[in-house]
Amino acid sequence: MAADAAAITTERLVLRAWRPGDRPAFAAMNADARVMEWFPATLSRRESDAMAAVIGQRLLEQGWGLWAVEVPDVEAFVGFVGLNPADATLGHPAVEVGWRLAAAHWGRGYAPEAARAALAFGFGTLGLEQIVSFSSVGNLKSRRVMEKIGMTHDPAEDFESPRFAQGSPLRPHVLYRITQAVFAAIGGAAPGR
Ligand SMILES: CC(C)(COP(=O)(O)OP(=O)(O)OC[C@H]1O[C@@H](n2cnc3c(N)ncnc32)[C@H](O)[C@@H]1OP(=O)(O)O)[C@@H](O)C(=O)NCCC(=O)NCCS
Repeated sequence: MAADAAAITTERLVLRAWRPGDRPAFAAMNADARVMEWFPATLSRRESDAMAAVIGQRLLEQGWGLWAVEVPDVEAFVGFVGLNPADATLGHPAVEVGWRLAAAHWGRGYAPEAARAALAFGFGTLGLEQIVSFSSVGNLKSRRVMEKIGMTHDPAEDFESPRFAQGSPLRPHVLYRITQAVFAAIGGAAPGR
């Protein structure tokens, strides 16, 4: 799939294919302890570049995935938002919506805006019946995004993420969901968010 064909435009953002020029900004955010607070460690330049290569290639091959997010006329790359298979983490087939943005761009509602476009793609183009999201229990910023886009949390589904070591404080996770029917009913925004 051509890079342009993968792009999705929202009110303020473009979700697009990854470019080699994104890598320095991606490495800077992956080296930022604020951004990586809920991950095991910050990433080196080499680790960050490898992650960008994998994510970017998967996006091109599938035609969907974790899109690079651009704020046109402001910043060419602010992070990623998109859809990702979550089977390995959850132990059953599922697609998650996820996000990671540079701290300088937090607080403007970019993540929920891009995530709504990703959900629309997942439900509309991919025909998914539901999409999940999950984070460490304490990652309240990420949980706020889940709530803003109309996802709901059932404490009975809280789980221990195998992506973190036994005993790690990051291991206990919350699971949020949204169905295609609920997304259609709320138009992509939870009431009052
Ligand atoms: C989670 C994340 C993507 C949110 O992106 P965003 O575009 O800032 O989202 P929003 O603007 O809707 O803000 C969501 C919440 O983050 C918090 N927040 C926003 N800006 C903040 C800032 N500068 N400092 C601290 N918290 C902030 C607020 O609680 C906000 O909720 P509110 O709008 O009700 O006040 C971003 O914080 C991030 O990249 N975090 C690090 C990566 C991460 O944890 N990814 C998820 C892993 S599961």
